[in-house]
Amino acid sequence: MKLQYFSHSAFKITTDKGIRILIDPFITGNPTSPVKADDIDAEFIILTHGHGDHVGDALDIAKRCNSTFICVNELAEWVKEKGHKAHNMHIGGSYNFEFGKVKFTIAHHGSLTPDNQYAGEPAGVIITIDSKCVYHTGDTGLFYDMKLIGELHPIDYMLLPIGDNFTMGIDDAVKAADFVSPKITAIPMHYNTFPVIQADPEEFKRKVEAKGIGCKVMSFGEEITL
Ligand code: NI
Ligand code: MN
Repeated sequence: MKLQYFSHSAFKITTDKGIRILIDPFITGNPTSPVKADDIDAEFIILTHGHGDHVGDALDIAKRCNSTFICVNELAEWVKEKGHKAHNMHIGGSYNFEFGKVKFTIAHHGSLTPDNQYAGEPAGVIITIDSKCVYHTGDTGLFYDMKLIGELHPIDYMLLPIGDNFTMGIDDAVKAADFVSPKITAIPMHYNTFPVIQADPEEFKRKVEAKGIGCKVMSFGEEITL
């Protein structure tokens, strides 16, 4: 399967069967996005929380592609009110979709939709496809239960914010990677989109590698094979 990074917290997974799963597609208004929203197709869209820099273009893409949303209950109800399909889930729960398994985790953050509706709790998401396990933490501060998440799930790839201000900064993200201990690599996200979240991903890479954990800094637009 493949993982493509659109900058900020926006990723697309493409399975070997060609199913496309988009996560937090903030494209329009994202000065670092290398693509246009119209160029992205997806069968499924996972939202970690309701903030505008995560919901992004999700509604427009879903309308064009007839995508199914996967998110926590309150946010799922909101996207349904907007006329879209959604599979309601919640933190701690997992479900086997046609492409693989999705489980929601806690995240320490806030959540409100772009039109100021209550969006439930923010979340992280663990996606397991063909025995490969990806943990996208969503927006979050550091929390000790990441240790438990790492113990319970054989995380191969951990996607985590390093931009500080709204989320973990570099040093807390290094600790988070240490707690989860991804088997293959940590991938930094949620940085350099705006001046307030400037961070040097190479500094994160140096510090996380010093802990014996792999790190891949994905360039904006890059696609890698998992
Ligand atoms: Ni947020
Ligand atoms: Mn955010």
